[in-house]
Amino acid sequence: MWKEIPEKVSQEQITFDVRELEPILSGPSLKLPPYEPEMAKLKDGSYLYIRPLEKDEVPKLLPFIKKLLDVDHDFYDIVGVRVYGELLGWYRNRLKDPYFMIGTINGKLAGFANARVMNNGIHISLHSMAFVRGLRVGAIMYYAKAKYAFEKLGAKEWWQHMKVITDLRDGFRYGTTIIPWPDVQHELGGAKVYYVTKEYWDLSIKDYLKQLVKTELEPASAEVAEANKELIIPDSPVV
Ligand SMILES: CC(C)(COP(=O)(O)OP(=O)(O)OC[C@H]1O[C@@H](n2cnc3c(N)ncnc32)[C@H](O)[C@@H]1OP(=O)(O)O)[C@@H](O)C(=O)NCCC(=O)NCCS
Repeated sequence: MWKEIPEKVSQEQITFDVRELEPILSGPSLKLPPYEPEMAKLKDGSYLYIRPLEKDEVPKLLPFIKKLLDVDHDFYDIVGVRVYGELLGWYRNRLKDPYFMIGTINGKLAGFANARVMNNGIHISLHSMAFVRGLRVGAIMYYAKAKYAFEKLGAKEWWQHMKVITDLRDGFRYGTTIIPWPDVQHELGGAKVYYVTKEYWDLSIKDYLKQLVKTELEPASAEVAEANKELIIPDSPVV
C-alpha cells in the first residue's frame, strides 16, 4: 500500500538490512530455566530418559515426524502435522517461547512433548506423543512437561484442550475446569480450553498423574544419561 507523505522528506528511499527486520518479526525470547534431564522406569524394566530437545536436532527429527502424517490411527496424523509445524516454527523463530522435550530408550527416540509460555502466568499445553506403544511413554512425557511448567517455570495456569479420547485419560480426567467457550478458545483449532491451576496441581493433579503413569520421575542417573548419549531416530514409526 502506498500513501503520499504530508511533508517534504530528505530521503525518498530507505533500505533495510533484513537482519534489522527479524527482531521485529520474531520478537525477543524469554530466558527459561532449562529442564534438567529426568528418567522413569517403564513397566518392562527399561528406563525412559527425558531431556530437552536441542534446536539443532530439529532437522534430524523432521523427516521422522513427517512419516506420522500417513498414520491414520490414534490421531498420529493430525498431531504429527501440528508437531511438524511447531518444530519448524521453533527452528525458524516463529513460535513464542516454546519448550520441547524428547524421551529416549537406550538412545532411541520413544516420546515427545511440547508446550509454550503464553504470558507470565499461562502456559499452553501443545502435544505429547509416544513412538513406542504399550509402555505409557506418552503419558509420562505429558506428566514431565506439566511438572516442568508448574514446578520449574512457575506456571500459574496450564491450558490444554482435549482433542483425542486419550486426553481424557492422560490429561486430567478429574478436576479440570472449562473456560466458557467459544468466548475463550484454545490456539489448537479453537477447541474448548480445559485448565488447571498451580493450586490444583499441588492438591490433586500431580498425584493423579503419578497414579496414572505408575512410575516416578527422578533425576537422570549418570549411567542412564550415558546410555542415551547418542540420539537414534527410528527409520519409520511402529505405532
Ligand atoms: C495418546 C498417546 C500419547 C498415548 O500413548 P501412551 O500414553 O504411551 O499409551 P500406551 O501406548 O502405553 O497405551 C495406553 C494403554 O493402552 C494399552 N495400549 C493401547 N494401545 C496399545 C498398543 N497399540 N500396543 C500396546 N498397548 C496398547 C497400553 O498397554 C496401556 O495400558 P496400561 O496403561 O493399562 O498399561 C499415543 O497414542 C500417541 O502418541 N498418539 C498420537 C498423538 C496424540 O494423540 N497425542 C495426545 C494428544 S496431543
